Amino acid sequence: MKVAILGCGAIGGVVARSLRDGEVPGAELVGVVHAGPTDPPDLPVLGIEAATEQADLVVECAGQRALAELGPSIVASGADLLVVSVGALADDALLTKLRDTGPGTLHLCSGAVGGLDVLAAAAREGGLSAVRIVTTKKAPTLVQRWMDAEQQERIRSTAEPVELMRGPAREVTAAFPASANVAASVALAVEDWDLVEATVVADPNAPLTSHVITAEGGSGDYRFEIRNHPSPGNPATSGVVPHAVLAAVAKLARPTGAFA
Ligand SMILES: NC(=O)c1ccc[n+]([C@@H]2O[C@H](COP(=O)([O-])OP(=O)(O)OC[C@H]3O[C@@H](n4cnc5c(N)ncnc54)[C@H](O)[C@@H]3O)[C@@H](O)[C@H]2O)c1
Repeated sequence: MKVAILGCGAIGGVVARSLRDGEVPGAELVGVVHAGPTDPPDLPVLGIEAATEQADLVVECAGQRALAELGPSIVASGADLLVVSVGALADDALLTKLRDTGPGTLHLCSGAVGGLDVLAAAAREGGLSAVRIVTTKKAPTLVQRWMDAEQQERIRSTAEPVELMRGPAREVTAAFPASANVAASVALAVEDWDLVEATVVADPNAPLTSHVITAEGGSGDYRFEIRNHPSPGNPATSGVVPHAVLAAVAKLARPTGAFA
């Protein structure tokens, strides 16, 4: 399977180098599409058109905006698309375009969280009555451009954890596009954007990024606590995420024997 990587930052860089080094049997790097001023010196660089022409699979690691801009032309070209910035799919029109139009197939990466499989099963069996995700990250990584100067300063200087937002997953993932993709992952897993309440907490003393997911329903009660070390390349991203991408690529390259 020939693979192109869209976005060569903390996630895409690790994924591209691992594929270049032949660490995923059945998958081969054709190149990276990047937006920085200088090309990564150790990786083959492609334009988006060449990437979609040459690759069987394009892996989006570039952010919600890039996915919204480039995703439709990738699946329209016939290449499959593996998405990391799943929060962009809170836009129903984009989700429909990417999932239902083809001819390329849309795949989602579980990214920083797990347990999505059992949540999907529980949602089918009798439904879920409540689903919550509380994300806690090191405070400065949660500062957003839409916040006013006072709020930005309060987050940077807080000595205590501060709840920044609580609401429907769709709104929270849009407000924190680099930090709350996980809220979208949970909503997509249970196929109900309105059911999932997401909370984002800025904690000045959080050494790890945590996601606490709880769900209740006819099949049982579920609680997962995920505590990830931040990525050395980007403290807003967890270090495990590129490895979740590589696991997803491995599964697409050699589906036999993998968890479905
Ligand atoms: N699903 C999850 O659990 C999860 C977890 C962490 C991050 N993410 C998503 O992954 C994205 C990437 O994370 P990261 O830590 O690697 O970010 P990053 O900022 O380190 O890297 C993103 C790279 O993409 C490049 N880029 C942006 N727009 C582009 C475009 N149009 N074409 C080509 N390259 C482009 C940037 O120049 C940058 O190099 C985040 O924005 C977030 O949306 C998802």
